[in-house]
Amino acid sequence: MSDTRIKQIRAREILDSRGDPTVEAEVRLEDSTTGTGQSPSGASTGLYEACELRDNDKSRYLGKGVRSAVENINEKLAPLLVGSDAADIYAIDRTMTAIDGSKDKSKLGANAILAVSLACAEAAAKSHGMPLYRFIGGVSASRMPVPMMNILNGGAHSSNGLDVQEFMIMPVGAADFSQALQWCCEVYHTLAKILKNKGMSTAVGDEGGFAPEITCDTEALDLLCDAVRSAGFALGTDFVFALDAAASEWKTDEKGYYRLTKSGEEYDSKQLIDRWEFLCGKYPIRSLEDGLGEEDWKGWQMMTSRLGRNVQLVGDDLFVTNTKRISRGIQEGAANAVLIKLNQIGTLSETIDAVRLAKNHGYNVIISHRSGETEGTFIADLSVALNAGQIKTGAPCRSERTAKYNRLLRIGEEVFRSGDDVYGNCF
Ligand code: PGA
Ligand code: ZN
Repeated sequence: MSDTRIKQIRAREILDSRGDPTVEAEVRLEDSTTGTGQSPSGASTGLYEACELRDNDKSRYLGKGVRSAVENINEKLAPLLVGSDAADIYAIDRTMTAIDGSKDKSKLGANAILAVSLACAEAAAKSHGMPLYRFIGGVSASRMPVPMMNILNGGAHSSNGLDVQEFMIMPVGAADFSQALQWCCEVYHTLAKILKNKGMSTAVGDEGGFAPEITCDTEALDLLCDAVRSAGFALGTDFVFALDAAASEWKTDEKGYYRLTKSGEEYDSKQLIDRWEFLCGKYPIRSLEDGLGEEDWKGWQMMTSRLGRNVQLVGDDLFVTNTKRISRGIQEGAANAVLIKLNQIGTLSETIDAVRLAKNHGYNVIISHRSGETEGTFIADLSVALNAGQIKTGAPCRSERTAKYNRLLRIGEEVFRSGDDVYGNCF
């Protein structure tokens, strides 16, 4: 018999994919079912994200330890949550948010709160004998996401000269998720061959994409075109491209000029939009994330009215999975899509609310990993549960990335018969 009342919560420090500590929580229910949850960690983090609590004790892990967040779970959250129903995710999250009491979860740490929130969901799903995507999404969970695969890395995720952080391929023409994955891997390996033939490095960045020593975004896009064509696919129909500029990383001066971190080039908002318009015209780019900075609401409005009809304009640092910021975007006509990262807001229920709000206003939704990840596969289930339509979880390389894709393969096999119309049409 299922009994989803929480009996015990324990937390520990584990390692993320960069070898930095992160938080894992383990929840045990009255019926002895257990669930775990892990917090990921970003590198190009938004200014308005919930707070990731680190010890700043230089004698351990160069200050990056998370023992204080772990203690907050074991000593502050656990005693108050024992006896609560883990299946009532909204109530669990409200309790934790209230105990924290701060606006940005800085008292207990969003990394502590999120790990518990995810562990409760996993334990409750298991206790009910349901896969996670079904527990969260119910009978309506029915779409497999189109992957947005980051196969060329720049920006804060690599040491090369590219200012744009992510160059991604999207297999929009595939028949189903498993074919989509196969196509992406074929392009990824073809790109490796092309780089090798040119004498360029095939070492990878934090998200598994290659990080060759190039400096120019058009050179990167030409390489992508070459890889797609050489692998035997058609540009624009089989594959389209997506960029994440991560422009909040580009320092702006008092006059609002963006200064690109690596090239040192300067642009105002209008000139950057001109640049994106040029690139979207020259290449099959259908999605552009953080093309402008997180404070540049006026610029976002201008970019959305100029490019928004043809291009998916994704707010990551702009929205930080926060319903207040998404509401502002909706009111002001800024962006037409939202990147969703659980640890930007710090609870599962607030993440679900952010997705619901975005969808209700016609914004597209992309469920996303962080550059520092764990082997946990929660976001794979979440993308199906919420019918997001798109997932961004890196290259088909590094096990913390492939774990999510492999989980999606299993979900696809479990739920959907071949021929079901459950993949694609994501824009
Ligand atoms: P981050 O990068 O996890 O380092 O923030 C991902 C992104 O910007 O989308
Ligand atoms: Zn981003």
